[in-house]
Amino acid sequence: MALKDVMKDIQGYTEIVEEIQTLKKYGSDYTDRKGEVERMIALLHPKTVALKVSEVIKETQTAKTFRLVGAAGHLPPFQAGQYINVFVEVGGIRTSRPYSIASSPSQTGFYDITIRSVEDGFVSGYFLEEVTVGETFESSSPAGTFTYNPLFHGKDLVFLAGGSGVTPFMSMIREVAQKGLDRQIHLVYGSRDVSDIIFEEELRLITARHPNIAVSHVISNPPEPYEGLKGFITAELMKDLLGDVSGKTFSVCGPEVMYAFCLSELEKLGVARRKIRTEVYGPPRDVTSQPGWPRGVKALDTFMVRIRGGKTIPAKAGEPLMISLERSGIVIPALCRSGECSLCRTKLLSGKVFQPDGVKLRKSDRQFGYIHPCMAYPLEDLELLL
Ligand SMILES: Cc1cc2nc3c(=O)[nH]c(=O)nc-3n(C[C@H](O)[C@H](O)[C@H](O)COP(=O)(O)OP(=O)(O)OC[C@H]3O[C@@H](n4cnc5c(N)ncnc54)[C@H](O)[C@@H]3O)c2cc1C
Ligand code: FES
Repeated sequence: MALKDVMKDIQGYTEIVEEIQTLKKYGSDYTDRKGEVERMIALLHPKTVALKVSEVIKETQTAKTFRLVGAAGHLPPFQAGQYINVFVEVGGIRTSRPYSIASSPSQTGFYDITIRSVEDGFVSGYFLEEVTVGETFESSSPAGTFTYNPLFHGKDLVFLAGGSGVTPFMSMIREVAQKGLDRQIHLVYGSRDVSDIIFEEELRLITARHPNIAVSHVISNPPEPYEGLKGFITAELMKDLLGDVSGKTFSVCGPEVMYAFCLSELEKLGVARRKIRTEVYGPPRDVTSQPGWPRGVKALDTFMVRIRGGKTIPAKAGEPLMISLERSGIVIPALCRSGECSLCRTKLLSGKVFQPDGVKLRKSDRQFGYIHPCMAYPLEDLELLL
């Protein structure tokens, strides 16, 4: 029996063939557009983006903005609040770090990332000291969910920023100012010293022109005498600045110590947890001070990690496994480096790790022994399946 006859016996075959012929006759034949969606996805959300530094702007003594243009044409669009994970090679070690895009999404000619140097920082130090105009990098596509959603966040927004944590808010503020969007924004921005404030002049100009945007600087170590707001972003300070907090949505971004502090202050004000959004800014500076860290294990204790079918590497207890792997030349997929996105999900075959609160492991991951090496710390010798 010929194939054609077999096909005719399949229920619905004749009707489908007739329908295809009708579509072709009336101009709705999509065969020549095959692959169009795939091409569009690759254009809007490519796996990697080639970037070139077109400008370096000194913001403060410890922070610089790197203006990045597409090294191979266009840049994918992004939403204010998203970040890119920038891949770098420092001292022969291939690693990456996420940085929020500080520029406005109204234009996609460039991404601005603003980096503050961290004490003993591996990548931030490299950027601040070595990266100049013309340098090229690869990054991920823009990612992250620290973005505005009109359905859930309303129009009355409070941004609590600490240090370089102002960057995603800057993108949101620039967008609201440029597009004249109908949103009330109050940025409460904590800095150690007045000289540490990033974007001070631009924020001053924006607030002068846009009555719906307010900025309050809070300085923790001001020079004396100092007239402005001092100390930390406490419940009392927020009450004085913001008045009635009901109906407001709070977003927090800054160093990890700031979260626990701001969350408890917001709790004192009676702000419901669902009205508070946070952006995690990478692994904790000192994991041994996290709740649940086992007493007997010291940050410098070193364990051996065996990779099934590969080499065995040393790993310090106080350092995320992902960094130990990178130090040994093993690069695994990474995006958020904060335990959130699941891209680095890896099977732990044996041994015990510490994963701080906030690491978004699925129930099934816990059950079947998967970990997020970007936020997992070895507590004994391990075996991993990569
Ligand atoms: C979503 C998101 C957005 C962010 N946005 C910003 C932003 O806009 N601006 C900003 O400034 N920061 C931002 N960060 C923080 C940023 O990603 C880095 O964590 C920060 O720049 C510090 O990185 P670092 O490498 O300098 O320091 P660390 O990674 O903390 O390095 C500290 C120490 O670890 C050692 N080390 C680390 N990695 C290696 C390695 N691979 N090999 C050998 N030694 C190593 C070094 O000895 C160094 O002393 C963001 C983080 C997240 C998660
Ligand atoms: S890189 Fe996102 S969870 Fe590890």
